[in-house]
Amino acid sequence: MKPSAPPQTYRVKSFGCQMNVYDGERMAELLAERGITPAPEGEEADLVILNTCHIREKAAEKVYSDIGRLVLAGKQAEANGGRQPLIAVAGCVAQAEGEEIMARAPAVSIVVGPQAYHRLPEMLDKAVQGKRATDTDMPAIAKFDALPARRKRGPSAFLTVQEGCDKFCTYCVVPYTRGAEISRPFSHLVAEAQKLVEAGAKEITLLGQNVNAWSGEDDKGRRTGLGGLIRALAQIDGLARIRYTTSHPNDMEEDLIAAHGEIAKLMPYLHLPVQSGSDRVLKAMNRQHTAQSYLKLIEAFRAVRPDIALSGDFIVGFPGETEADFEDTLRIVDEVRYAACFSFKYSPRPGTPAATMDGQIAPEVMDERLQRLQQRIGAHQLAFNQASVGKTCTVLVERTGRHPGQWLGKSPWLQSVWFEGQAAIGDLVEVTLAEAGPNSLKGLVREVLPA
Ligand code: SAH
Ligand code: SF4
Ligand code: F3S
Repeated sequence: MKPSAPPQTYRVKSFGCQMNVYDGERMAELLAERGITPAPEGEEADLVILNTCHIREKAAEKVYSDIGRLVLAGKQAEANGGRQPLIAVAGCVAQAEGEEIMARAPAVSIVVGPQAYHRLPEMLDKAVQGKRATDTDMPAIAKFDALPARRKRGPSAFLTVQEGCDKFCTYCVVPYTRGAEISRPFSHLVAEAQKLVEAGAKEITLLGQNVNAWSGEDDKGRRTGLGGLIRALAQIDGLARIRYTTSHPNDMEEDLIAAHGEIAKLMPYLHLPVQSGSDRVLKAMNRQHTAQSYLKLIEAFRAVRPDIALSGDFIVGFPGETEADFEDTLRIVDEVRYAACFSFKYSPRPGTPAATMDGQIAPEVMDERLQRLQQRIGAHQLAFNQASVGKTCTVLVERTGRHPGQWLGKSPWLQSVWFEGQAAIGDLVEVTLAEAGPNSLKGLVREVLPA
């Protein structure tokens, strides 16, 4: 690899989950500290960070086509007197396939895992000298302590509170790419949330692969779970909304459920993946819960917060899944009446137990099941939106709409709502929900609340 001039501009492309989005923002902040600025829209960047996802095969393969595209664009740029970009691969593919990336893609200068990206600046120095650098360590010292302060962002901010997973569902790579479960300390989180609010955030979404496994000690040294952290964050003036994702059914504590009935800032929304409605499949997935225990949990949330919106994740075509198992999944969708769902075809991942299980399902069977499941999910989503018509709620304005005077934001139930009128990004606008489609609702403005 040839030495190159230090990069002046960067672009971070994040794929996968919201934790990757959060990591992407933190990497951008690290680069900003070095005076490297975001590449203007439509222009090539000197440094491109591909912040990758390994969860399904398609996501993981994408990194190689993206690298190919960057190399091609770089060659064209060079022909016009420009430069090849430095390419860094971060995220979960970097963690899982770091060596393979270095071998398969000579254009890549840096491979950095999700627990090591605080060392990106030093790696960049090496790359500029023409030395390729890989760091996929999972250091015991949390990377968070080494990251610079938060910068101004939009009205809705992410805050990673927990990382990693000890659950080892038999289909999933996350325990390998993100490592063991760790919780960031209470005081650090309160401080970061305060900084985010000072920088303009009105809403904070607490993130973790198993966010409700978060555990810490509050300012008085008492053991507290996510419910306690949410209660503390709700004290921050100027913070209007709190959300959290993703929860695991087995880590749900009474206090978090209770918080939904007590904390007005905690939005009435819960993402609680179940994956399958069949106990046989759940067992093979090593989920350690049953369909019934999951439904009981949902009941407990609805008891304290009757209007709570639920969302979930589903996998169809897990090895051994029969038509009857799949029908159990359709049944649980009907029982819960989800407001939204993510559903995926099972993707065998190297190194996971399910990849070598008997009874792998044919692709056309998976396609057909996914289609039926998505139809059912879509019907419930539309029904949920239609049932919201007539309700009055606040919308947190996140961006402008397609036409002048149009604004887009989210309802408390995480629905996309658009409306026309006087507003600004970051406003909390009271609207009456007037019309519902499958993916969004139209609101009529009642008033703009003082920030
Ligand atoms: N920690 C969260 C989510 C992890 S990944 C949880 O336990 O729910 C997000 C979703 O991707 C999962 O909920 C699952 O539905 C899906 N997923 C994970 N591994 C997969 C695989 N091998 N094939 C298809 N979907 C998968
Ligand atoms: Fe993956 Fe299961 Fe952990 Fe979720 S709980 S991240 S699905 S292993
Ligand atoms: Fe993907 Fe890693 Fe998130 S595999 S879903 S980016 S934890």
